[in-house]
Amino acid sequence: METCGKHALIELSEEYDGCEKCPLLVKSRTQVVFGGGSSTAPIVIVGEAPGAEEDEEGAVFIGDCGQLFMDVIAKAWPPCPEMAEISKIGEDKTYFHRLRDYLDEYIFWTNTGLCRPEDNRTPTATEVKNCLDRLHRSIYAVDPVLIIAAGKVAASALVGKSVAITEKRGRIFDIAIPSPVTGNPVRYPMLAILHPSYLLRQGDQKLVKKKQGVTYQTIKDLEYGFGLVDQLYRDAYGRPFLEK
Ligand code: URA
Repeated sequence: METCGKHALIELSEEYDGCEKCPLLVKSRTQVVFGGGSSTAPIVIVGEAPGAEEDEEGAVFIGDCGQLFMDVIAKAWPPCPEMAEISKIGEDKTYFHRLRDYLDEYIFWTNTGLCRPEDNRTPTATEVKNCLDRLHRSIYAVDPVLIIAAGKVAASALVGKSVAITEKRGRIFDIAIPSPVTGNPVRYPMLAILHPSYLLRQGDQKLVKKKQGVTYQTIKDLEYGFGLVDQLYRDAYGRPFLEK
């Protein structure tokens, strides 16, 4: 069994394809949506569970919520020529395609649960538990510099206890992932942020220019997170994380 890198992720996705641990999810899902992006990414983003479009297409964060998330990430991203070019495109399909292709070089995206719950209900504690070993092994395989937990479900699953997300957003947690080889804990910093579907429901994107609202807050939280990635990356590899 591979535990790190691309092959480990491929093996893991094969292992979970057609998973039947959660009977209700087997009924509600169209397919298991494993996640995607770079297998050597400095950042792992963990959401809650696939929505309707993700379930249909088999890819994470591609619906309205995913598009808002990518746009918020773009606004918080460290300044670079590639993002400046992409940001010139109006917010259409090309923009989101180009943005996703670019972000996929630096991010591995996954969810706390791999299957869409009926009517997008919150996954139950048992469903979260059933998928936790897979989440830990995905993170271990990528071995990122920073994990970003989007929303209460992801943050609570990774911290191992309930996280009051509106209070704790913007904070860094020191979390432990069990090594699939030794079982010993491997520690990672995790940034907790508000879930993009909450930002979508609040609909306060127009307030960003006025530096107000939860979308603005989340951009600031992510700016802090990407700054931390850069600092940790420089400490580990002696160069900025955006430098190839
Ligand atoms: N919400 C999530 O948490 N994950 C997705 O992939 C899509 C929407």
